[in-house]
Amino acid sequence: MQRRELMRLLASAGALPLLGPLARLAHAADKDAWQADFEAADAPWKTGFAAPPGDLPLTRAAVRGRFPDAVTGTLFRIGPAGHDLGGERYHHWFDGDGMVHRFVIDGADVRHQGRYVATPKRVAEVRAGRRLAEAFGTMPPGVEPPTSADNINVANTSVLPLQGEVLALWEGGSATRIDARTLDTLGVKTWRPDLAGMPFSAHPKVDPDGTVWNFGVSSGQGLLALYEIGADGALRRAAVVPVADMPMVHDFAVTERHLVFLMPPLVYDAKRKEAGATFLDAHVWRPELGMRALVVDKQNWERRQMLTLPAGFLFHVGNAWEEDTPRGTRIHIDYVRSENADSVFTTNREVMRARRVKSTDPHLTVATLNLDTGTATQTTLAQEAEFPRIDPRRVGLRHRQVVHATQVRRDLPGFGAVARTDVESGCSQRFSYGAQAIVEEHVYVPDGAKPGWVLGTVLDFGRQKTVLSCFAADHLAAGPVAQATLPYALPLGLHGAFVSA
Ligand SMILES: [Fe+2]
Repeated sequence: MQRRELMRLLASAGALPLLGPLARLAHAADKDAWQADFEAADAPWKTGFAAPPGDLPLTRAAVRGRFPDAVTGTLFRIGPAGHDLGGERYHHWFDGDGMVHRFVIDGADVRHQGRYVATPKRVAEVRAGRRLAEAFGTMPPGVEPPTSADNINVANTSVLPLQGEVLALWEGGSATRIDARTLDTLGVKTWRPDLAGMPFSAHPKVDPDGTVWNFGVSSGQGLLALYEIGADGALRRAAVVPVADMPMVHDFAVTERHLVFLMPPLVYDAKRKEAGATFLDAHVWRPELGMRALVVDKQNWERRQMLTLPAGFLFHVGNAWEEDTPRGTRIHIDYVRSENADSVFTTNREVMRARRVKSTDPHLTVATLNLDTGTATQTTLAQEAEFPRIDPRRVGLRHRQVVHATQVRRDLPGFGAVARTDVESGCSQRFSYGAQAIVEEHVYVPDGAKPGWVLGTVLDFGRQKTVLSCFAADHLAAGPVAQATLPYALPLGLHGAFVSA
């Protein structure tokens, strides 16, 4: 099959295969009890999974201390927020309509604004007062099969500042353009007319020279789309490559010369989808496949190599870098590894009815891929981890420090502390926010040759407020140098990006 034909197929089908007729027959007409269960639950943390009824106008935070000059700018964040509609509640954290936030930081002045992304799906469903389309982990009753991936695009996963705009990213369809000053939704991003509707994942990587690399997974077709975008925001190249037993791939890494995909053995099964499963439940855990590592030459996408690590699951990669040694070229990649995919199937579902179901703890893990021998090894560090972030100037280059959430609690979802871990020595320092906080992603903000800053939010469910904190990156354990407390709690989000003023 010619590449052009593959592209046409991908673009017409979108990332998510269409729902089969059996699924429609399987729909129960009655509403289920998830909304009632959520409302009745007495878990104080459930605010993190509540849905703001509408947009949140620009509001001044109460600031303690002063945010350093290097963090003067805007922290954009995004996450699922539209969790319920018409008395129906989604069954998975990742389903909700995206809400994009901006925290405008200037010394002792911090203001916050949040707006739902006005995707075609959200606009149509709010108008109808009910769900019209399937979601990642929920099949609402009576929905029609989507006619394209962008009809079910919730733009809720991550943000990419690019050329003065912000792209709100999902992973099944197009990026959505957002006005960086007003948070107005400007429509989907089409990189080239023949790529309209193609899957564009939520974790693009930006090289030090500004080149943007990304991928997209088309599960039904078993194809991996690849993108190279110039620092000017113009598409340079796009193509698709076939992958057998296509798994769920959420994140990837780049090195100076390669793209690296860690592929957990959570494999898409088209028959399950045709039988009416949600996109999530169409995936099967097949540990016999191991964790495959697909390495693609950045310059020549036809040059690909597959290595294998022990089976495990991941959402996120910290960074990767490569070195030429007398014994061959080696890629070092750090990622957050779990023993299995229970977190996506169960933990991140049950929170939607305010139930805490613990799964295996994710840990920071460092793998080495030897491209000459085709062998791969890995070491799991002691630190529980999620939301790993590095100095953006070190993407694809040798790095040591990874900022991440840590400290799993048995009775609370998410994490209680932020940490900075040296992935070579294993040394780590952390700051715990206490027993009534759930940590969101913290980003690293560079400050010239100085150690830099760590910036991130927590849900303080004791006070029912969201708090933005800034730490000296080399003195994390000393606690925040400045904090901005909003007069309200935001729903727990996923990823963000800082743009200096
Ligand atoms: Fe992510």
